[in-house]
Amino acid sequence: MKISVFETKEAASKYASDIFYEQIKKQPNSVLGLATGGTMSTFYEKLSGSINENPIDVKKLNTFNLDEYYEITSENPQSYHAYMKTLFFDKVGIDSAQTHFPYQKEHQEDPSLYDQQIDALGGIDIQLLGIGRNGHIGFNEPNTPFNSITRVVDLSETTIQDNARFFEDINEVPKQAVSMGISTIMKAKRIILLAFGEAKKDIIIELSKMTTPDENIPASILLTHPNVEIIVDKTIGEYLN
Ligand code: GLP
Repeated sequence: MKISVFETKEAASKYASDIFYEQIKKQPNSVLGLATGGTMSTFYEKLSGSINENPIDVKKLNTFNLDEYYEITSENPQSYHAYMKTLFFDKVGIDSAQTHFPYQKEHQEDPSLYDQQIDALGGIDIQLLGIGRNGHIGFNEPNTPFNSITRVVDLSETTIQDNARFFEDINEVPKQAVSMGISTIMKAKRIILLAFGEAKKDIIIELSKMTTPDENIPASILLTHPNVEIIVDKTIGEYLN
């Protein structure tokens, strides 16, 4: 598990976005695994900036988002559909037919079909990941079985509190989501995890000291993946050896 440290979130996000840019350039029909959350906004700003400054073909891409809140419509500004459309898809001309989410209120399907759809397109070439303070990846909360696939999940109290900042009232935060499972994420050929700032310091320090995966910290499964890079800023990096 490689850890790369950058002076700022900006520099780290640019480095990560260049990895995705090069992947798309090299293989225009790539299957991208995408993430949302506060951490990713600079990443999408940099990636859409690069694509618009030095155009590459994005029309053959397929994207699979990690998760979506349960029971909210894709038009709801708090939905991850809306986040992705505003911050990335519309900026670079990725059509909704190319994008996939594990849940859409308007077209509900069996969530486990998501894993089959990913496999049918040859699997995820590169997966972007954030991390929760409790070590969650996607919305796989502590003690999620490592063999889990895409399914409806209950959000932990920590996650509801952390995500309340995106809502007017904590009571508006959905209590459930549909998330890729841990085994779904682990099947990606390459994984890039971003973590910035004080809030993610403790979990990344803990993860960097672990030697064997523990279901209590979902991200620790990444220790067994052959191609993972964790990209952090100096706020976290100065505590790592
Ligand atoms: C959210 C998302 C995750 C994300 C993580 C960190 O709840 N479901 O996919 O990686 O928690 O979010 P943030 O970047 O806002 O800290």
